[in-house]
Amino acid sequence: MAGSDRLRVVGPEDLPAPETEPEEWRLRDQLLNFAKDLNEVYRRERTRARELEAALEELQDSYLATVRTLAAVVEAKDSRTRAHLDRAHLYAVALARRIAPEMADDPGLRYGSLLHDIGKIGVPEGILGKQGPLTREEWEIVKTHPLIGGQICAPVKFLQKAIPLIEGHHERWDGAGYPRGLKGEDIPLQARVFAIVDAFDAMTADRPYRTPMTFEMAVNEIVRASGTQFDPAVVQAFSEMCAGISSDSPFVTELRRLKH
Ligand SMILES: [Fe+2]
Ligand SMILES: [Fe+2]
Repeated sequence: MAGSDRLRVVGPEDLPAPETEPEEWRLRDQLLNFAKDLNEVYRRERTRARELEAALEELQDSYLATVRTLAAVVEAKDSRTRAHLDRAHLYAVALARRIAPEMADDPGLRYGSLLHDIGKIGVPEGILGKQGPLTREEWEIVKTHPLIGGQICAPVKFLQKAIPLIEGHHERWDGAGYPRGLKGEDIPLQARVFAIVDAFDAMTADRPYRTPMTFEMAVNEIVRASGTQFDPAVVQAFSEMCAGISSDSPFVTELRRLKH
């Protein structure tokens, strides 16, 4: 209540010195009562604002708990997913903060990063866990996961903002991505940001079938795909962000914690 904070309650010192006239005494009493009422309204308003703030915080916490539960559905299919979700979320928020600070606090980015692969619950486990190359038919099924994810979130009001990221995280800057083949700035910005951190984490994370790339090699791979797979402006921000990270920064410490 920024306006209320500026409110100064009228006190006796603000009133004219008492005169002997009874009319003026009455006026002074009336003003003092008015000041008391005003004080009471102000106090009640402050309490109500605090209660509303607490309720809103509680609501946001329960939203996030719901999103984490949904994300755990994906995790149930792949035990490495949880750490990937946490890291990708952390990278996405850090990168968004460099590009458009308001995007970092946008629930669309936060919920979208946690739920980007929620649509994989519609893909058979035999395909998701397959070692070795997928057949053309299997690949077509995998490619449906962004739209299935969008359909899962569509009926949930607070998840609406996550849909552009979920549906757009496999689109490519050059238009060769899926599911819609969107090109350039037709791809929502959150999805363009997330596509980079998702790929970066996939390259640097441990996988049973290959050794992970080093941090520097993965950054180089991202830079190499600037203008084809990824938005050049976002790649620029990403490489600047990575160049500025020292090994003892809180960001890197947090990443190490999430490594396994
Ligand atoms: Fe995906
Ligand atoms: Fe991912």
